[in-house]
Formats: sequence, structure tokens, C-alpha cells
Amino acid sequence: MPPEAEAAPDAAASVAVAPAPAAGAAASATERPRIPVRSGPPPKPAPVEASSKEAEPTPAERAREVAARAGRADFAELEGLVSACTACGLCEGRKHAVFGTGAQQQVRWLVVGEAPGEQEDRQGLPFVGRSGQLLDAMLASVGMSREQDVFIANVIKCRPPGNRNPKPEEVAACSPYLMRQIALLKPERILVLGRFAAQTLLGTEATIGSLRGRVHTLKTDEGVEIPLVVSYHPAYLLRSPVEKARAWQDLQLAVQP
Ligand code: URA
Repeated sequence: MPPEAEAAPDAAASVAVAPAPAAGAAASATERPRIPVRSGPPPKPAPVEASSKEAEPTPAERAREVAARAGRADFAELEGLVSACTACGLCEGRKHAVFGTGAQQQVRWLVVGEAPGEQEDRQGLPFVGRSGQLLDAMLASVGMSREQDVFIANVIKCRPPGNRNPKPEEVAACSPYLMRQIALLKPERILVLGRFAAQTLLGTEATIGSLRGRVHTLKTDEGVEIPLVVSYHPAYLLRSPVEKARAWQDLQLAVQP
């Protein structure tokens, strides 16, 4: 679904392997145990004990597992975890998981979008289409570039089919990656683009109109407080260029020391 809809709104069975007989230790015919002769129908297989069944993990269990692994990873390991992630169904349709790109040291802004689109899925990079060009122009207007000053990432790392809205279980499975990116990058500011990303990061259903225009605070699990500014998604600005003036105000707010 296009961003800003509201504003335009925006078993593994473990196999026990018997040890192979040592070379030269084959039993002789006389030592071979006798096999009892069976009469009648074959015995029914023993019922599988519930405790020995491998249950599919629930979405909440998967999210906890992702969070545990991501929480221990350094930045390079985190990128590897994201590329190999199978925590939700989105992995099935992806060409690339999109980890993010940009500065990793002295990061001034972390820019957070929604999810990769078709081009981003193809190239494995965030914001590479027309929205990306507009984002680069917006950053340049405040003297920043994606290479030197900001890291760009999305809430969801794999493209939802047909660019539909991510489902809650997909958000739950993927959010730990973004949280770890925030903890490792320690950006000075977070600029959140679009209703979906803003609502996810701030844990609210509030409209983008009510979230813009003030500085929020994101508190990491480590207790670090990072100022967070919400603005319109560039895809929305391409459809509604009249809102660019407001986006400019948001950038001015975010750039304040
Ligand atoms: N829209 C997003 O939210 N993220 C991208 O990476 C591209 C388009």
C-alpha cells in the first residue's frame, strides 16, 4: 500500500546415527542374532509422543529468537542475519533482503522508511527509485548525504508482495533488526518517513499529521534517548508535491542542534 494513505492520506527431526562398525569387526554368520519369524499383520507404528513432535514456532517465538540473535550481533553479523533471515513469510518472495546503507561511524541521522519496493528488492539497497532521488535531494538541502552523514534503513527488510502493508507478525519478526541497528549506530537523530514507520517506532496509531511538528524521543533498550522527528514519506511527496513545504519544515526541525 502506498505510504501516507491517511494523509493522502500514507522440524527439524533429529536423526540418531548409529556408530558404524569398526573396520574388520563384521559379525560372523554364527554370531548374528536370530530374527524372530513374525506371523500376522505388521504391527502398527507406535504413536508419536507429543513431546517428540517438533512444533512450528509461533510468530511470537520467532520474534523472540530474532531478537535474541540480533541483540548479540555486531554490525557485520547483523547484516548476515538479515540476509539469511527466514523469520517470516516475506523471505519467500524476496530477491534481496535490504539491510540498509550509509555511514556507520558518527551517524548524524538514521533515516527510517517502511519497506523495500520493487527496485530496492532488486538491488538490495534502500530508497533507490524516484523516492530515493527525492530523499537524496531532501538530505542535500540540509547539507547531508547518504554516504557521509546518514544511515538509511527500513522497518521491514524484505519487500511485501505488491508493496502491501506489512502484517503485524512481519513487523514483530523484523523490528529487532532495526532496534539493533539503532543501538549499534547510535545516531544523533532519527528521521522517520511515513505513517507506517512512525507508528511502528513510536508504538502509536496516531496520524502522521499529529506526529509531525515536534521532537519525539526514542528510548533504546540500553536506556539511550534519541530525538526522533516524523515527516512525510518521499513517495507521498511525489504524489502530493504541495506537502513539500511541510517536509522542509520537518527537516529544519530535525537539523536543530
Ligand atoms: N520506500 C521505503 O519506505 N523504503 C525504501 O527503501 C523504498 C521505498
